[in-house]
Amino acid sequence: MRLRDCHNFHDFRTLAKRRLPGPIFNYIDGAADDEVTYRRNTASFERCDLIPNILRGVESIDLSVTVLGQKLAMPVYCSPTALQRLFHHHGERAVAAAVAKSGTMFGVSSLGTVSLEELRRAHKTPQVYQFYFHKDRSLNRAMMQRAKESGVDVMMLTVDSITGGNRERDLRTGFSIPFHLTLGGMLQFAIKPMWGINYLRHERFKLPQLDEHVDMSGGAMSIGHYFTEMLDPSMNWNDVAEMVRAWNGQFCLKGVMSVADAKRAAEIGCTGIVISNHGGRQLDGSRAPFDQLAEIVDAVGDRIDVLMDGGVQRGSHVLKALSLGAKAVGVGRFYLFPLAAAGQAGVERALGLMRAEIERDMKLMGCTSISQLTRDNLRFR
Ligand SMILES: Cc1cc2nc3c(=O)[nH]c(=O)nc-3n(C[C@H](O)[C@H](O)[C@H](O)COP(=O)(O)O)c2cc1C
Repeated sequence: MRLRDCHNFHDFRTLAKRRLPGPIFNYIDGAADDEVTYRRNTASFERCDLIPNILRGVESIDLSVTVLGQKLAMPVYCSPTALQRLFHHHGERAVAAAVAKSGTMFGVSSLGTVSLEELRRAHKTPQVYQFYFHKDRSLNRAMMQRAKESGVDVMMLTVDSITGGNRERDLRTGFSIPFHLTLGGMLQFAIKPMWGINYLRHERFKLPQLDEHVDMSGGAMSIGHYFTEMLDPSMNWNDVAEMVRAWNGQFCLKGVMSVADAKRAAEIGCTGIVISNHGGRQLDGSRAPFDQLAEIVDAVGDRIDVLMDGGVQRGSHVLKALSLGAKAVGVGRFYLFPLAAAGQAGVERALGLMRAEIERDMKLMGCTSISQLTRDNLRFR
């Protein structure tokens, strides 16, 4: 199987599975507990049907949107994800370069393996910085200052990870940073030697967003300990309101699921929210973002930008979310499997296929611009 044989999400997933050692593939592919929420995230789109209109003159289609003050060439962005260097030796560099070519936005995780400054210098495309809230308030201020100085466009605070999700696939393989592989996990690395060769022949694994502030070197602190010891489980609305004021720019909460929280986010001055359950990786049994979208858009959509992510695999999923009122849609595994399968070329191909699908489906729906997608286009089963 080659990159040119990949025509959809499932093809990229299959190719990624062939290239990656099992523990790393399962870190991407896995989710919390019984992975019910993970499955439902995609299934939720299937309970909703599109109703096309015909004969509307659809020779040229405008896919651009403006969201969180950023103009995007298409209504899909790459949501921040951790540890990309493990998935492909070019990691975030490959993703950022592919995203820049497609004219959309990408997120850099606090657990990213390339520095936000380097990515900012390399590309003009809108950049989001995904932030975790630390017990040490001066550390939070220093990290925000660093992001501000580097020219990050949007601050995105993840609020659904107050404690780590129970990812049982990782427990079985021993996936953690640093690695604590089980014997089975080690064997799975041994049978994928190309990954190991690429890993060792390229730049050393780093976490530059944290390295300046937290000693993660030589296994001094694991990511698990970073979460339990340094992040603040007492974080509350007052803390976030203070952050919003300090940032004084586009500020988005990622991981909002209830109408009450969406209203509160608008009240404290957030300019956007992402309806998200972290791709099913945190609270299993949590509702699918697509199922929560309409009521949240109705409550706050006239005041702040409502985005969503989770389970998006097709252009038609994006059209459904936009028709309900989302301003843009985030993807995670949709670009991570292509990254693992073929680096920058993989992500470029995946984003290109997504763009082509959205454009084709817009034509088939009889719409020439995103603003023409409305709830009249949808029926729920
Ligand atoms: C491997 C992996 C790592 C992730 N790392 C982060 C992270 O560091 N910070 C964050 O806010 N979300 C993280 N996410 C969640 C994504 O940003 C996004 O919410 C989720 O992947 C969307 O679901 P999808 O993968 O079904 O598209 C991660 C997701 C995956 C799959």
